[in-house]
Amino acid sequence: MSKKISRRSFAEKTAAITLASLLPRSVFADSSSPQRVVVHGDSELGVVRPEFHGHFAEHLGSCVYGGLWVGKGSPVPNVEGYRKAAVEYLATLGVPVLRWPGGCFADDYHWRDGIGPASKRPRRVNIHWGGYVEDNSFGTHEFIGLCRKIGAEPYFAGNVGSGSPEELRDWIEYCNFPSGSTLADERAANGSPEPFCVRYWGVGNESWGCGGAMRPEEYAEAYRRFSVYLREFGGTKPFLVASGPNGNDERWTRPFMEGLRWERPDGISMHYYSGGGTRSTQFTVEEMKKQLSSFALVEKAVVQQRALLDGFQRGSEVGLIVDEWGVWDQMVEEEEKRFGRLWQQSTMRSAVAAGLGLNLFNRQADKIYMCNIAQMVNVLQSLLLTDGPEGQHCVRTTTYYAYELFKPHRSKTALRVETSDTSPLGLSVSASKSDQDLVLSFVNPQHDADMQVDCSLRNLSVTEGSARILHDNDLNAYNGFDNPDRVTPKQHPVTVEGSRIRLELPSLSVATVTLRRKT
Ligand code: AHR
Repeated sequence: MSKKISRRSFAEKTAAITLASLLPRSVFADSSSPQRVVVHGDSELGVVRPEFHGHFAEHLGSCVYGGLWVGKGSPVPNVEGYRKAAVEYLATLGVPVLRWPGGCFADDYHWRDGIGPASKRPRRVNIHWGGYVEDNSFGTHEFIGLCRKIGAEPYFAGNVGSGSPEELRDWIEYCNFPSGSTLADERAANGSPEPFCVRYWGVGNESWGCGGAMRPEEYAEAYRRFSVYLREFGGTKPFLVASGPNGNDERWTRPFMEGLRWERPDGISMHYYSGGGTRSTQFTVEEMKKQLSSFALVEKAVVQQRALLDGFQRGSEVGLIVDEWGVWDQMVEEEEKRFGRLWQQSTMRSAVAAGLGLNLFNRQADKIYMCNIAQMVNVLQSLLLTDGPEGQHCVRTTTYYAYELFKPHRSKTALRVETSDTSPLGLSVSASKSDQDLVLSFVNPQHDADMQVDCSLRNLSVTEGSARILHDNDLNAYNGFDNPDRVTPKQHPVTVEGSRIRLELPSLSVATVTLRRKT
């Protein structure tokens, strides 16, 4: 049934819109809803491990080739073959950990293809991501070089699906044994006499799917067999990450854990994507709501998977890793052709999604070990976008800036917070403290409601503070190649009165308040 709009109500509506666009937003007290927040200064949850802000780079589309790595002879400005702008932006942001080379690609990657003189490396077909040929010019040494340039700890995803325990064991020896073994000496001959001391090793990826299509019982068997040989070489004890569930799928985690004997992986890799049924820059409010609501499910998955693991004997020794996460929108064929597979724009909505994710990681700091967004450059919810593999442009996306806003939380102690509205699209908050500072992050996922945040601090007081905000009224706003600074963080007013903090949070915004604690 169609609703008839009277002339009068239309006129009133138009007048209100006109007036609203002329006056400062804060005049419209009734368009803002008061949001009460309590931060419990003495209720400590755990450390916000810097690894919650980890990344993932796969041989997929133009993430590695053309994104991070352009080659030494490239017309794209580069440092030793690495895209210069990407290295600079990532080093500035700080990348605690970087997972490579996949994803699905990992279980079809044979590490020996990527060592030795580049001209002699085999050319291989990337079977997962479009059947194009890769020249293997980016291999183990190049990845370690990238990690050193951006300050990231390397995390190798090993091949279980099409590989063998011997192959993976040898990769670890090649990387970590100091000298005197044939593999260590080969590494030295390839230009790196010092061991790489790589700690993080994935034992397969999505072994329930592209990583071998195994049943959980079969994977438990494979894990047991592989892990026998994945040893400490030269004093670097490997941190082994088992392939975990797709989302909150206990039908994977439980039988896998039951299939182990005394073995306990150091980590288990859960993947949780937040799908979107629309192209990135054409989201409707309804589509956005659907996608953003899924972050409540990610939080539930963290809580439930943690509880499930803890239910096993010595299950608490297994670190829960949200190894691939982020928004996965509908791809645009033309963009994928020009820029690479799974190339996706990052909008204001994506930044809100990043904020919801990073906030929930803080809130569940005691339950998680590491979280890696998918992916770093040019693929899915990336932090940087280039205009194709040969493109000279490299922009920092809205997601990059969301990460920048959360950086002050790293290594601080997460605190319990309470909010008046706990619905999936209510105000999202997290807090962390050090001896000197208190850091609060707020996300307003509403498209049409500004929020007046009134935050009380319990057992904690502060003297002064400042805030930065990422905001755009348009949920589809993004940093394009012709407008790279459309959505960037700005200073934002905040009122600090002893143990009361107040600020206005416009619709679709991510804000971080950094406060000086009273000593
Ligand atoms: O990130 C893209 C793909 O998503 C990865 O290769 C795979 O692990 C997941 O299914």
